[in-house]
Amino acid sequence: MRQFTEDTLTDAVLARLKDAKNPRFKQIIASAVKHLHAFARDVQLTEEEWFEGIKFLSAVGQKCDDKRQEFILLSDILGLSMMVVALNHKTPPGATEATVLGPFFVHGAPEFEYGADFTKGATVEGETTWVTGRVLSIDGKPIPSAALDIWQARANGVYDIQDPDAEFELRGRVLTNAEGRYAFKTYKPQFYGVPDDGPVGDLLRAMGRHPMRPAHMHAIVSADGYQQVITHVFVAGDPYLDSDAVFAVKESLIGHFKQVDSPAEAKKLGLSAPFLRLDWDFRLAPAGIGRTRQTIAASDAVT
Ligand code: BEZ
Ligand code: FE
Repeated sequence: MRQFTEDTLTDAVLARLKDAKNPRFKQIIASAVKHLHAFARDVQLTEEEWFEGIKFLSAVGQKCDDKRQEFILLSDILGLSMMVVALNHKTPPGATEATVLGPFFVHGAPEFEYGADFTKGATVEGETTWVTGRVLSIDGKPIPSAALDIWQARANGVYDIQDPDAEFELRGRVLTNAEGRYAFKTYKPQFYGVPDDGPVGDLLRAMGRHPMRPAHMHAIVSADGYQQVITHVFVAGDPYLDSDAVFAVKESLIGHFKQVDSPAEAKKLGLSAPFLRLDWDFRLAPAGIGRTRQTIAASDAVT
């Protein structure tokens, strides 16, 4: 058949996949075609509207460079990134839950000893926070030499890599000690907006949505024999916990940053009072159970 109607076109396109060699690719592209055609039928898409859509997708592509990934941002604000996390990271009970990676992780951040000072050299000051805890297996055994890759926005809501004048700030890698314990000094994370000066920002505004993310610290926790987890710790009480622009909040990931007033406590840690303290344990599932996403290795490029 050469000529198709709106009722026969979808099957015709699917039939042309008969020679596709990779069965998984065939399954994915067939489903994409079916859903795209169904979408066009559902909204009775006009040519002008589809041309607007093409213009939007072109602008998304044009906004991407080696520092800015507008397509990932699009996937994030549409909830697709979190859908893929949910499908691929069904953690067993007790394990720290996964959430979105985001675009601001970079490889090659400095490595620090236990008790690291991530605020050293920071160009934006914040509220001093001591973060400490353990990396544990789901049955509660401490994991020595687990690696924690940590990154967060500065107190002005801007990541170091968004600022051409900043080097590594509030990010680094620490290892757990023989008791499975880690500690570092940082600043309390602040809420911030995802980049909204591009087409994704226009889309958010057209949808009547704000670009804000609740305050959080990112962590990737890895240890031999365990599943890596890509996660966040959110700040309890943040005004955007219920409306995160990228749908990444999980109740189990909300931490309490408690004020410590004792000068003696502060002195023990080389800090001055008052300061904030977050006690936070990460729990890793053993390798090989459940479904987990691909591991981020130290050499992978993410941005
Ligand atoms: C982030 O948390 O760094 C982030 C996540 C998704 C989109 C933009 C930023
Ligand atoms: Fe972030």
